Amino acid sequence: MRSPIFLIGFMGSGKSTVGRHLADHLGFRFIDTDVFIETRFRERITDIFARYGEETFRRRERMAIEELMSMPETIFATGGGLPCQGDTMDLLLEAGHTIYLRGSAPVLASRLELCKRTRPTIRDKSGDELLDFVKQSLERRAPIYSRAHAVYDIDEVDTVAKERLLAEEIARSLDLG
Ligand code: S3P
Repeated sequence: MRSPIFLIGFMGSGKSTVGRHLADHLGFRFIDTDVFIETRFRERITDIFARYGEETFRRRERMAIEELMSMPETIFATGGGLPCQGDTMDLLLEAGHTIYLRGSAPVLASRLELCKRTRPTIRDKSGDELLDFVKQSLERRAPIYSRAHAVYDIDEVDTVAKERLLAEEIARSLDLG
């Protein structure tokens, strides 16, 4: 059985869309950790943050990945903060193949402007405030994301067709023997 693949990176980097294409291409199962958490705890991510705070969300996120990470033949789209908590990145590196979808702060911020409603850490930010938040978070997180086994730049991947091509490129590069 082939080991799981973890797509990691900041919000808005295309982990879910690229991950779905990749799963289709390889015949793997696809799991988005945010969706899994919402289903398992029967609460939206925004409600988990609002009711219990970020710490509870991070605890649930960690429980979820510990439960799931040994599933073979699975593509995981992980929440943007997931690998950055404690030793979670070590666990992912050990459990399978990790791929960082790397975006620059300006590109990520402009993409997130369009889809921030369901993302509690940014839903109330826009313009320069959002850009500053992305820059600062990325500065902290990039060294962790960059430990991934492979890195792909996504700034130019701005259409569905290009996301599909990226998924095919990733699939080709995997030695799945
Ligand atoms: C978060 C990213 C989100 C989600 C939550 C917190 C973060 O996932 O887990 O809103 O801290 O970066 P996506 O990266 O899938 O948007």
